[in-house]
Amino acid sequence: MDLTVTIGGMKFKNPLWAASGTFGCGKEFVDFLDLSEVGAIVAKTVTLNPREGNSTPRVVETPSGMLNSIGLENKGVEHFAAEVLPEMKRYGTRVIASISGFSRQEFVECARVLSGKSTPDAIEINLSCPNVRHGHTKCLLMAQDPKATKEVIRAVKKRAKAPIIAKLTPNVTDIAEIARAAKDAGADAISLVNTYFGMAIDPLTMRPLLGNVVGGLSGPAIRPMAVKAVWEVYKKVKVAIIGIGGIMNGLDVAEFMIAGANAVQIGTTNLVEPGAMTRILREYKEYLKKMKISSARNIVGRLKTGG
Ligand SMILES: Cc1cc2nc3c(=O)[nH]c(=O)nc-3n(C[C@H](O)[C@H](O)[C@H](O)COP(=O)(O)O)c2cc1C
Repeated sequence: MDLTVTIGGMKFKNPLWAASGTFGCGKEFVDFLDLSEVGAIVAKTVTLNPREGNSTPRVVETPSGMLNSIGLENKGVEHFAAEVLPEMKRYGTRVIASISGFSRQEFVECARVLSGKSTPDAIEINLSCPNVRHGHTKCLLMAQDPKATKEVIRAVKKRAKAPIIAKLTPNVTDIAEIARAAKDAGADAISLVNTYFGMAIDPLTMRPLLGNVVGGLSGPAIRPMAVKAVWEVYKKVKVAIIGIGGIMNGLDVAEFMIAGANAVQIGTTNLVEPGAMTRILREYKEYLKKMKISSARNIVGRLKTGG
């Protein structure tokens, strides 16, 4: 059975990747699974300067999912490039760095740092950060604005040595429009989706359950919406897609790939079951065998509609 997938001109041993922010930098999971079995590890997002993150509580369980408002806590891209990346590259799988920024220049600087001595296999650009420069409103995210998306991706593409993946927020009216902007600017692939905006309140204290009041919803609760986002982009934009959102088992992987994803990322499930990716890969292989499909790539976009 051929599980390999090619994205951005690069071959991956299988289409199951660990999602940013839910898998640390891999070493936190070595006691639970063989990291070399994972298709790729997307590291936690880093920014140009270290960040302390949002006030606590930062996570809360919700029906079929969770809310988080970590606020991009990290030690900065220089630390990542010097201390974390070289270690991650020893795990026998692809390593994808994730960067974010508060201006185009910050993204470019991060890409520059990651194009030095030790480079990741690819860079995922987390565009779910406030769009300060284009800030039409205080809450507008980079990936809610096709123009800002285009500018950032174009600038990073020029500077980065590695292929780039644009990770989009689903909190938009037309996700295909943003995906098209990212692709036209040079993104090698698109990751869909980051979390959905949400909030939860304790009725007894009448206080929000997250220190930041609002956060991002993830887990199986978002899966149908995420599958739809993948399908929308698959129909309208010719670009490699990495599907993300509530994947818990092998059939969920198949669901995203049938909708048009070339690979998927597993997020919240890693927090519930740290060894889950091994199980999910096994289940996905069983699915392909049962369906008599010899290659993981053969189900991409095979959705049957009508009659
Ligand atoms: C605790 C937590 C932290 C996250 N941190 C990041 C992050 O640093 N960068 C990023 O691009 N996405 C981050 N995400 C979003 C996930 O990578 C993923 O896109 C989202 O959770 C949907 O997938 P899931 O339902 O499988 O979790 C985070 C998600 C969670 C739950």
